[in-house]
Amino acid sequence: MSSWQSPSNIALIKYWGKREQQLPQNASLSITLNNAVTRTRVKLLPGKLNNSGLELDFKLSGERNPAFAERLSTFLDSLKGTFPFLLGAMLEIQSENSFPHSAGIASSASAMSALALCLCDLEQQLEGTQNYQDDFFKKASVIARLGSGSASRSVFGGFTVWGKHTHVSGSSDEYAVPLPFEPHEIFHHIKNTILIVDASQKKVSSSVGHHLMNGHPFAEARFKQAESNLSLLLDAIKSGNWDDFSRITENEALSLHAMMMSSNPGYMLMHPNTLVVLDKLKHFREKSKVKICFTLDAGPNIHLLYPESETEAVKPFLSDVKDYCVNPAMIDDQIGYGPINLQTQANET
Ligand code: PMV
Repeated sequence: MSSWQSPSNIALIKYWGKREQQLPQNASLSITLNNAVTRTRVKLLPGKLNNSGLELDFKLSGERNPAFAERLSTFLDSLKGTFPFLLGAMLEIQSENSFPHSAGIASSASAMSALALCLCDLEQQLEGTQNYQDDFFKKASVIARLGSGSASRSVFGGFTVWGKHTHVSGSSDEYAVPLPFEPHEIFHHIKNTILIVDASQKKVSSSVGHHLMNGHPFAEARFKQAESNLSLLLDAIKSGNWDDFSRITENEALSLHAMMMSSNPGYMLMHPNTLVVLDKLKHFREKSKVKICFTLDAGPNIHLLYPESETEAVKPFLSDVKDYCVNPAMIDDQIGYGPINLQTQANET
């Protein structure tokens, strides 16, 4: 049995567009979250079946979820070459999220990374080792990526880079790596408050969105922009330049949504209240000079980012925009430390 807790993450430099085998068209950078996590427990009964199939018993928060079970089955089937112990196996998977569904938090990132960690752990257990070193997390990141691209970054805490980039040594399209330097102290406890302006299911999935980047008239320019934005953001994170950090992060969020609007067919994932709140943010910042900026995922909800030291100063803005949000209006999170092996933790306590 294996049990891991893995966090979600929010990208600052966006991955949008992919090549075969879930490889990114450009490198991306994210912050791993602290409170938004998935806890997954996998029980394996190897070689129980009389054929090479795989039987899955999956529950999310104690309940069957046929749609996600089907996605997991397909994913697990595709991994039989990598993990031969899945051949003819019976698998019991129980998962739970710490955050509400459809709150604009990428549950596939935390879910797929938690599952990948469990699978890599089971492999080690069957080999009689328990060696949670760099290679273990590198492999987990590769497996997580195959499940959901952005999940590759959730295997590490702090700032994480996925995709080959000349300024990040050891970076790869196959797996994510932690930032190779210490961020400036202004970013050490960076906060992420998510304003939920709309909690309904998104109208266009990310996989459709990625696909629409094939043949997109602005695709090449977008991949170049992301490459150069990542270089600039790395400098800002190192030097503690909040204004550059803010400008680049917001440019990435709006460019992501610009790609959606200019796809063929085009679509919009922002809600009218997304624009109202972003306009209010601009005015609040101009007036107060508080260090705060936003990013958007592929959805209408707003991820506010600010140094921990600004927590009090941000409060008036939060109460001002509450009426433009649904219930729950906001989710409080911050940069986190990455996955936890729940079995090891249980044995220690
Ligand atoms: O990992 P996917 O396939 O769900 O794509 C994620 C895409 C974005 O969330 C919009 C950006 C990113 O880098 O996380």
